[in-house]
Amino acid sequence: MCGIVGYIGSKDAFPILIKGLQRLEYRGYDSAGVALITEASNLAVYKTRGKVSDLESFTQHKDVSGSIGIAHTRWATHGEPNDVNAHPHYSQSESLALIHNGIIENYAVLKEDLMSRGYTFKSNTDTEVLVQLIEYVKVSNNVDLFTAVQLALTQVVGAYAIAVLERGHPDCIIAARKSSPLVVGIGDDEYFLGSDASPIIEYTNRVIYIDDDEVVRLKRDSEPRICNLNNVEKSHEIKELEMSLSQLEKGGFPHFMIKEIFEQPNTVRECMRGRINVERNRVALSGIIDHKERFLNAKRIIIVACGTSWHAGLIGEYLLEEFARIPVEVEYASEFRYRNPVLCPDDIVIAISQSGETADTLAAAELAKRQGAFVYGICNVVGSSIPRMTHTGSYTHAGPEIGVASTKAFTAQVTVLTLMALTIAEEKGEMSKDVFEQYVQELALIPDKMEQTLSVAGYIEDFSSIFTYAKNFIYLGRGYSYPVALEGALKLKEISYIHAEGYPAAEMKHGPIALIDREMPTVVIAPKKGMYDKVVSNIQEIKARKGRVVAIVTEGDTVIRDLADYYIEIPDTEDCFSPLLSALPLQLMAYYIAVVKGCNVDQPRNLAKSVTVE
Ligand code: F6R
Repeated sequence: MCGIVGYIGSKDAFPILIKGLQRLEYRGYDSAGVALITEASNLAVYKTRGKVSDLESFTQHKDVSGSIGIAHTRWATHGEPNDVNAHPHYSQSESLALIHNGIIENYAVLKEDLMSRGYTFKSNTDTEVLVQLIEYVKVSNNVDLFTAVQLALTQVVGAYAIAVLERGHPDCIIAARKSSPLVVGIGDDEYFLGSDASPIIEYTNRVIYIDDDEVVRLKRDSEPRICNLNNVEKSHEIKELEMSLSQLEKGGFPHFMIKEIFEQPNTVRECMRGRINVERNRVALSGIIDHKERFLNAKRIIIVACGTSWHAGLIGEYLLEEFARIPVEVEYASEFRYRNPVLCPDDIVIAISQSGETADTLAAAELAKRQGAFVYGICNVVGSSIPRMTHTGSYTHAGPEIGVASTKAFTAQVTVLTLMALTIAEEKGEMSKDVFEQYVQELALIPDKMEQTLSVAGYIEDFSSIFTYAKNFIYLGRGYSYPVALEGALKLKEISYIHAEGYPAAEMKHGPIALIDREMPTVVIAPKKGMYDKVVSNIQEIKARKGRVVAIVTEGDTVIRDLADYYIEIPDTEDCFSPLLSALPLQLMAYYIAVVKGCNVDQPRNLAKSVTVE
């Protein structure tokens, strides 16, 4: 949600900032802007509605010289996406320029106060309030910018990652964070700033993660100075990034989404690496083993997440209850955090998040921790906020996910949950040795079976174009296939803008069946080992009403093949592992329908990759 990038060093800042914005564009893409202290000592701000490419055109004949700058790509919260509301924002005297990711909740009160002191505002944003406040505090207290930022932020309620430049100070960037990610990259005599490491990795793999309520000063020829809002100095370990630049490129695919769909056999292999031993029939997830007693004594597991991660959580519920015999509840993080939930000391709360930054999931995990629960994170982005605040957890190791629609992160989350359920089941002695070994052997085959599943992409591409006429879709599944139906529907609606709903197949009779007609395609996930016969009956009910059916079936299925209009085969596997295969054709279908409709699949309208605001 909004991308921040900054540079100070000896190179030209502008190309570094533009490239950084392009890498961060997945976080928000309705407007973009840059502030530079130019060689002529101007504090220049250039910004425009639209994408980073629009900013590049807009700046073509402008003075973009200078070796210090900050830049921003926006996902609008306050004020529509237009040139004026784009960041950076100047202060009243235009001596400061600021970029911001997050929401200032008390901006209206602060704005009124500043207006009564003669400040005027050009935009509708909360961000402009912040830069004006910093200027007011700086002037009225006669302090330097670092101190002014510290003092101003004590008055602010909300979430922010900010970076500020000051006219006449071409050697210094001040930045700060609360509940919005901020990373400093350390190069040779140069520093970088980023909302995440993606704009930095090209130049250095040495980073510092800034913590909440910290302000950092990046100055040429000196170490970063980091203090909290009370001016207490903070020391930070320099971390080494494991990410590589090639992981951030499209690698010959037309979109990140399709690249990430095809990466899944490998990301699931990576996710299992070192955690599953096929020769010895062992599964060991260190986060569980290190806290074995907690899991052995757990009375309940509560999973909190949003969106696709919530769907993975639902699959986790089925796995953990079936394998480990622990009651599981799956909660939308946004509901959980505000409904005064009852938590007991023997509860384990699992927070699932690709980005590790989702505001609601982070807040839900913090609430659970405050109330004494043991909190476990399942996240993809290493060093992000959730893994840093949880008691322990497991990374999904899916690599950077750039496409806004989550694909490889989902299957990696499901893989971790599977490994988790197997590890606890074994520790608790809840599964017979034979079944356990059979599951371990089968799980190890899943990446190869994913490859086989993806080999039908051409066929899916061919028939998907037929469905671009559709205004609505229904997705049905039972048992393990029910969350997959929800996920398939979410993928379709978010990237193709076709309305789609997922249902447990048996619920169809309780309402949705009224929608079925020739125009309404139904996607049915019907692997052989699920509640197959019951799903076949559902398909017959749809066909009796002239509905069109796309079915995901186990290879060799002849019954559904004769009933469905289109069918996609997945390799045979255990029912509990089938989501890892059946999700893939649904991702492909959503992708190809969206491409034929001419939608921007990597950057769907109104969405952003990382939802760091409520
Ligand atoms: C859908 C999608 C979103 C995210 C949700 C949670 O394709 O990507 O629904 O799953 O915003 O994000 P994370 O997992 O980063 O917490």
